[in-house]
Amino acid sequence: MSKTATLEINGQKHDFPLITGTENEVAIDIKTLRGVTGGVTTIDPGYKNTGSCESAITFLNGEEGILRYRGYAIEDLAEKASFLEVAYLLIFGELPTRVELDKFHADIKEESVVDDDIKKILDAFPKAAHPMGVLSSLTSALTAFNPSSVNVDSEEDMYRAIVKIMGKFPVLVAWTMRKQKGLPLDYGDDSLGYVENVLKMMFKKPNQEYVENPILVNALDKLLILHADHEQNCSTSTVRIVGSSHAGLFASLSAGISALWGPLHGGANQAVLEMLEAIKEDGGDTKKFMAKAKDKEDPFRLMGFGHRVYKNFDPRAKIIKVAADEVLGDLGIEDPVLDIAKGLATEALSDEYFVKRKLYPNVDFYSGIIYRAMGIPVEMFTVMFALGRLPGWIAQWKEMRTRKEPIGRPRQVYTGENHREFKTVDDR
Ligand code: SDX
Repeated sequence: MSKTATLEINGQKHDFPLITGTENEVAIDIKTLRGVTGGVTTIDPGYKNTGSCESAITFLNGEEGILRYRGYAIEDLAEKASFLEVAYLLIFGELPTRVELDKFHADIKEESVVDDDIKKILDAFPKAAHPMGVLSSLTSALTAFNPSSVNVDSEEDMYRAIVKIMGKFPVLVAWTMRKQKGLPLDYGDDSLGYVENVLKMMFKKPNQEYVENPILVNALDKLLILHADHEQNCSTSTVRIVGSSHAGLFASLSAGISALWGPLHGGANQAVLEMLEAIKEDGGDTKKFMAKAKDKEDPFRLMGFGHRVYKNFDPRAKIIKVAADEVLGDLGIEDPVLDIAKGLATEALSDEYFVKRKLYPNVDFYSGIIYRAMGIPVEMFTVMFALGRLPGWIAQWKEMRTRKEPIGRPRQVYTGENHREFKTVDDR
């Protein structure tokens, strides 16, 4: 393969280096483009063809449905690792030894108390406030209680900030749900595992002994692993670009939560359940909704379908679909929306519109069915996505800051008015 790409503009040729990644992805390095061409830039709405960075964290192959965290296949991690091991892997680059994992968990537990004044902020929200807006606000508020910014040149300082947010974020997640349900804002039990403690903080009733359900623990652990990172998706790119201005880690994460909230992104898991419920209420006629999804005059989209990168199956959706059957079976739950989901998926896989556009079920298509079976309210589904994505956001922010990447500031092509003389209001 040639080492350069040649661009000819106005009869002048310009060579730009080609860079090749460890999985043989090739990119044109256009760092010098404006300079050598007298100001010519590129434009790529949605960055469908544009890389923002080189990264060593997650590899996706959308054509072959491959997802790897630090080189490990998502199928292996989902089956054999714990969420805390995967968090450590994403953030520090290696799977932890038993000693490293136990220390990581112990250090996280040391930081898993939040300032009680956070409850005053939470109390100010109406019960009907969407949990993603509450979580984003509380995460940003953590900066007020932990004002010292991270010295990214100090491994110890970086580590302290990481265990701090890994410890406090699950508390904010649990309290966000408990606030909505009118339950007291309690802590869990530090003698428990990370995911076990999350579930206890979320579901412990003030007047009952909490009984742990290993089916729910395993299901949540797997779901969090599957959501843990996904290279330069919308919310991760948000965390990176906010962090590139040297805004703090908590502020960058808060911005990422807001980006994830959108129904085209992480908010899709809530939108999928609402869509499946609407189809069920409408009599379960999936063909009617398929027709709506294909009708360009109809704004309806088949939520949980399609992906910017996966033009084949989303490997996470395959794993979650199997897990949904297992969890509902283990819990003895018959959920008609799972059958509707499977019916939609079967129809779409043989429908020319979806096949031509390579639209397959994505990570959000089945996940909500498991969250609902676990007793998690639908407005909390994207909060659970954020809990899973936290280590990925941390890892990506850490990579960007420790590599001292420049502030993100895209260019544009101006298409507005040319210069015109100002007229005072009486002359207009
Ligand atoms: C996530 O990027 C990531 O990695 C994200 C994520 C992660 O882990 O971080 O994987 C998580 O966000 C998953 C995606 C969740 N979103 C949804 O399920 C919402 C529904 N899906 C779409 O809105 C859409 O598929 C996107 C946003 C996911 C991808 O959009 P693209 O890549 O910009 O594709 P597009 O909108 O240009 O669509 C291409 C064509 C269009 O039709 P034509 O103009 O070619 O005729 O496909 C159509 C679209 O209209 N299309 C759909 C559709 N998705 C795309 N038609 C009906 N239903 C859909 N769901």
